Amino acid sequence: MASLHFACPSFRSPEIWATHQSHRRPILISSKKTQYLVCCVKNSTKTLDKIEENKPEIQLEFIGPKAGPDGSYPVDKASTVSGEKLLRNIMVDNKIELYAAYGKVMNCGGGGSCGTCIVEIVDGKELLNERTNTELRYLKKKPESWRLACQTIVGNKENSGKVVVQRLPQWKK
Ligand code: FES
Repeated sequence: MASLHFACPSFRSPEIWATHQSHRRPILISSKKTQYLVCCVKNSTKTLDKIEENKPEIQLEFIGPKAGPDGSYPVDKASTVSGEKLLRNIMVDNKIELYAAYGKVMNCGGGGSCGTCIVEIVDGKELLNERTNTELRYLKKKPESWRLACQTIVGNKENSGKVVVQRLPQWKK
């Protein structure tokens, strides 16, 4: 005897349906105010995960400013979808120290008005946006490899690769 398989119905607005053409044939249900397309979605979680998986990613390494007792510098790692986040937010989200003592209490929260979120890009600068006018103002006499983390967009939505960041380059020993 043949077995039947049912998937849970999914309620989506027509706009959302337009972006998920992989779903089964929809049925239109209307009320006075709203229209819904009802469709059976097989393995819906996997389908959405796959969309995320296909976005290009940037891997990041953050080198600490002081060597440990064995002479090696500590390295933190993180990754992000290309072009979706500022470097400052990636560091804050991953609890990677960005500010020196003064910046910890006096930073502007990413508004581009304090100049304390300084990092050095050791590798992968081609994966980032160009220096902004704010950076040109605050980093005028600093090395070209220095950036303000709150002005630095990691990736451009299409590129992928690795960016190596020196934290607190002004305190590097
Ligand atoms: S956090 Fe103030 S300039 Fe970046």
